[in-house]
This record gives sequence, C-alpha cells and structure tokens, in this order.
Amino acid sequence: MNSYKALVVNQANEGTDMSIQSIERKVLGHGEVFIDVYYSSVNYKDGMVAALGQIAKKFPLTPGIDLAGVVKESNDSRFKVGDEVIATSYDIGTKIDGGYQEYATIPGEYVLPLLDGLTLKEAMIQGTAGLTIGIAIDKLENVGVHPDRGDVLVAGASGGSGSLAIQMLHHLGYSVVASSGSSSRIEYLKSIGAERVIDRAEVENDHNQPVNPPLYQAAIDPVGGSTTEYILKTLNPEGAVVTFGLVGGTEVSTSVLPFLGRGIHWLGVNSVHYPMEKRQEVWQRLATDLKIDLERDDLVNEVSLDELPQALHDIIDGNLQGRTIVNLKS
Ligand SMILES: NC(=O)c1ccc[n+]([C@@H]2O[C@H](COP(=O)([O-])OP(=O)(O)OC[C@H]3O[C@@H](n4cnc5c(N)ncnc54)[C@H](OP(=O)(O)O)[C@@H]3O)[C@@H](O)[C@H]2O)c1
Repeated sequence: MNSYKALVVNQANEGTDMSIQSIERKVLGHGEVFIDVYYSSVNYKDGMVAALGQIAKKFPLTPGIDLAGVVKESNDSRFKVGDEVIATSYDIGTKIDGGYQEYATIPGEYVLPLLDGLTLKEAMIQGTAGLTIGIAIDKLENVGVHPDRGDVLVAGASGGSGSLAIQMLHHLGYSVVASSGSSSRIEYLKSIGAERVIDRAEVENDHNQPVNPPLYQAAIDPVGGSTTEYILKTLNPEGAVVTFGLVGGTEVSTSVLPFLGRGIHWLGVNSVHYPMEKRQEVWQRLATDLKIDLERDDLVNEVSLDELPQALHDIIDGNLQGRTIVNLKS
C-alpha cells in the first residue's frame, strides 16, 4: 500500500474547501507509529478546523482529532505490528494530519494501547468527548460532588459531550437535569438518563441578580458565555462546575459573590494537553466504572469518509445529536 484516501482541507475565499484525495505514503520517522485507521470521530473542534478553517496550524490539513486502529509499522518500541491503539488530541488534526484518512502517521508519545473492555468503535464513540467528560467527573468528585448531594445540570445536552455526560452521570447514580435548545430531542435526552429537560433559554443569564436561588450541586458546561454566568450564580453552597466549551461564547462576566458567599468551585478541562499518565487512568475508567451503553442508535451516527464533509458542517450548525463516528472501512 503506497497510497490511501484522506479528507484534505484547504483554506478558501469563504471558509474552507474539503475534498477526498489520494495521499502518497511517506517514510516513517523516528518514534512514529503508522496506524491502519478503523474509526475516527466528529467533535466540535473538528468542525471548527474543517468547516470554519479555525485553529488549524497548517493547510492543506487532514483533520480528525481522534483515531483508533491497528499498528501497521512502528518506530516506537512500545508498539508492535498488530496492536490495537487509540490516539486523541495533542497536535492531531490541527498541526499534524489526523484521523480522517485510511492510514495515519502519529508520534508514539500520543498513542495509547486500546484498553481491555473497549472495542475500537467504542473508543471512538467516546473519543475526545468521552475523555473530557471522564476528566470532568474526576474533577467534580475530587471537590466532593456525590450522587446524594443534589441535581447535576448538563448544558448543551444533546451534543456529543453533553450526551455522554448525561449517560455517565446517570450510570453513577446522579440525578441529571439536561438543558437543551432542541425541543425535538427531549425524549432522547430522557431516554439516555436525564431526569428532567429544561429549555436552553432558562440557563442563559438574565444579568439582573448577583446570585440566584441555589439549584444544582454541580454542572457540566460545554457552552460557556452567558450559560456559565447563570451556572456560577445558581450552584449550591460548595457546588462545582466544569467549564470546557465555547459554543455559546468565550466571554464570561461574573461577580465574586458566589465564590465568597457560597464557596463554589469553577473548574476547567484541557483534554488536548492532559498528561498521558492521567489520561490512561481516565481511559481505564471509561472502560470500567464509567462504561455506558455505547451502541445505541439514537446516540451514535456513523458516517463514511464521503459523508464526512456534511457532518462537519452539521456539527457547527448544531444539527448533530449525540456522537458521530467515522468508519474508515465503509
Ligand atoms: N476543553 C476541552 O478539552 C474540550 C474537549 C471537548 C470539547 N470541548 C468543547 O466543548 C464544546 C462542545 O463540544 P462537542 O464536541 O460536545 O460539541 P457538540 O456535539 O456540537 O455539542 C454542543 C451542543 O451545545 C449546544 N449548543 C450549540 N450551540 C449553542 C449555543 N449557541 N448556545 C448554547 N448551546 C449551544 C447544542 O446542544 P442543545 O441543542 O442540546 O442545546 C449542541 O449540540 C465545544 O466548544 C468544544 O470545543 C472542549
């Protein structure tokens, strides 16, 4: 095999230009692993790279921050031909070519063996979204969040990370309140574990009061902006929120009152540079106590390389429900 198919993105006058191209295989460098990619996934960040031309550090670029497959050749002694592996984030799909290709060359330091208890497909249903929620739950537990202590709000609920958060929290015994801008997805959100679903408008800040009546012991916040403002004002005493996304905006205006009056915790996640050692621990949890039913038709949408450009536009437009994975063998 000297050439293979890849989605290639170039900058265009308006946005980007995406096409499926045949790529010539390059000589494997020191410490690199050549992977036969079985699955990748579609994250909001992939949409920002491929559909909006943002974040990318080079063009032309093959995006795809997540990939799972089988080692074909290895210049890293930790990996041998035939090993099942996963690789997510770092520079993958932004600075170096990522998962939207039939074969990928990845630095060995970014690669993890697939964990017992997960298939390659399941690992990509989780992908960066699942890793991020695993880290977020870890952080919430570390500040005392517990199923007995009240409701947990999940914002941006019907998206990839929101859907996985609902399922994992429900699985751990939490009472989950989902906020969503998609009224057609209320039944879906209840079916994956939400106790109640509220309209997105309820969690957008009204800017009128420094604090609201306390409602939630914790929150998962992929949204940012005015939603984060609302959450900070509405947490119970000693409550905690993990903010990790920006789909609703990057600016947050707040007062110190919830911090000094209620002792709340405002936490963040950077899954891109999360240390490999701790990353392995979180993947271990995703394969064991955080393992959820990943093969649901309403959670997972599978696309081929040819169908991928549309999915990358759809995630930016908020048109995808749950997780979308890319099957490189279809
Ligand atoms: N920091 C990190 O390491 C890290 C890791 C993973 C993801 N992220 C970030 O987390 C965010 C979500 O990622 P994802 O892959 O889960 O995306 P996603 O699948 O597109 O989910 C985002 C969800 O947010 C809601 N939403 C969309 N536009 C909105 C708006 N203008 N205001 C409020 N809510 C809106 C929608 O759900 P409803 O229709 O149900 O409201 C949408 O499905 C992105 O910003 C991503 O970059 C960061």
